[in-house]
Amino acid sequence: MKIKSVKVDGFKNLKGVEIAPSSQTNIIFGENAQGKTNLVEALWLCSGVKSFRGTKDKDFIDLNGQRAVIEIEFENSFRTQTIKIAAARPNVRDKNVELNGVKLKTISKLFGNLSCVVFTPEDLELSKGSPDNRRSFCDLSISQIKHSYREVVSKYENVIVQRNSVLKNIQSGNSKRSDLEIWDIQLAKLGSYISMLRYNYVKKLNIFAKNLYNDISRGKEELELRYSSTVFENLEKREDFSGEMADEYLKRLSESYYDDMKSGFTQAGPHRDDIISYINNLNSREYGSQGQNRSVALVMKLAQAYILFEEIGEEPVILLDDVLSELDGARQDFVRSKIKDFQIFITCCKKPEKIGKDSKLFEVRSGKVFEIRNRGGD
Ligand SMILES: Nc1ncnc2c1ncn2[C@@H]1O[C@H](COP(=O)(O)OP(=O)(O)OP(=O)(O)O)[C@@H](O)[C@H]1O
Ligand SMILES: [Mg+2]
Repeated sequence: MKIKSVKVDGFKNLKGVEIAPSSQTNIIFGENAQGKTNLVEALWLCSGVKSFRGTKDKDFIDLNGQRAVIEIEFENSFRTQTIKIAAARPNVRDKNVELNGVKLKTISKLFGNLSCVVFTPEDLELSKGSPDNRRSFCDLSISQIKHSYREVVSKYENVIVQRNSVLKNIQSGNSKRSDLEIWDIQLAKLGSYISMLRYNYVKKLNIFAKNLYNDISRGKEELELRYSSTVFENLEKREDFSGEMADEYLKRLSESYYDDMKSGFTQAGPHRDDIISYINNLNSREYGSQGQNRSVALVMKLAQAYILFEEIGEEPVILLDDVLSELDGARQDFVRSKIKDFQIFITCCKKPEKIGKDSKLFEVRSGKVFEIRNRGGD
């Protein structure tokens, strides 16, 4: 999948941007606060996933402007497609979203057309940081492959909210234990399904990540990623998510009922699960160095891109926002070598001394983007 043209105007500080990216590497450089991440964000929004920096609707349009438009043209192996996202004041929530000229209700309906993988400096904390990030990583990765999964996760989250509120009511004497039943039954099916898909995804992730980690550590260290479920002892080869898995799930809910009730919170379930990484059999979060955990994070993200490629049969577009400058030279080379066949957008502050012959160089200054053609030694 390749982005062929990009037009952005009035999205945050970007003004009159019109570029025709290289189908290989695009380096977007410029000083701080010029609009590099805004450009990456505009591309990412076209993939139909909410902003990786949590941009609210009200911040979508230039503070001093009235209208924002993002338009891109991209191709996969079958055809060229167009995406347009536009918003205008005063109803900033009301966006005009189009795929190939056909109106869609929301940006999220674009999901599944343009596939991107984004790396931000925060992603380098994926291994060391909060389990919440690993769960979101896993859920987004799965939904990029299986679009209906997103809906399941959102239903599950809703049921958890409802169940927790009943738990609090039981605690205060306003509900009884049997009021949980209708939520538990739903939770058991949804939660079993999520656990099963996540387990299988992490299994696949492990295969790719293990190989990549072997490369990055030059064969000195072995990485193992494992899905850790708070409900199931064993998820290998389990499929019957609405039958025997759901029964086991219900049993687990029943075991933790008193704890749940006391805390007003559902203790076990995919919302508490995690991906554990082991380096040479030691939990990397507990024993690994900062550098080792960063390497784990990198290979997890690379593995995500590879799996997506394998599953959808098209290379995702890779967006690297400010990541390379955070890495040492060896890791920079490693990342570049592993994604060289994808279309890549890389942001950085310093103009690179030289770039490859099929790469393009863009400078961002005060929200405007200029292609630099005089690139120096190739
Ligand atoms: N809604 C908005 N309207 C106008 N300008 C905005 C809006 N939201 C953010 N900006 C501006 O965008 C600029 C930041 O852009 P961006 O985060 O893309 O910078 P950057 O080039 O990636 O910088 P860095 O190198 O520090 O990461 C800031 O100057 C900020 O004030
Ligand atoms: Mg930035």
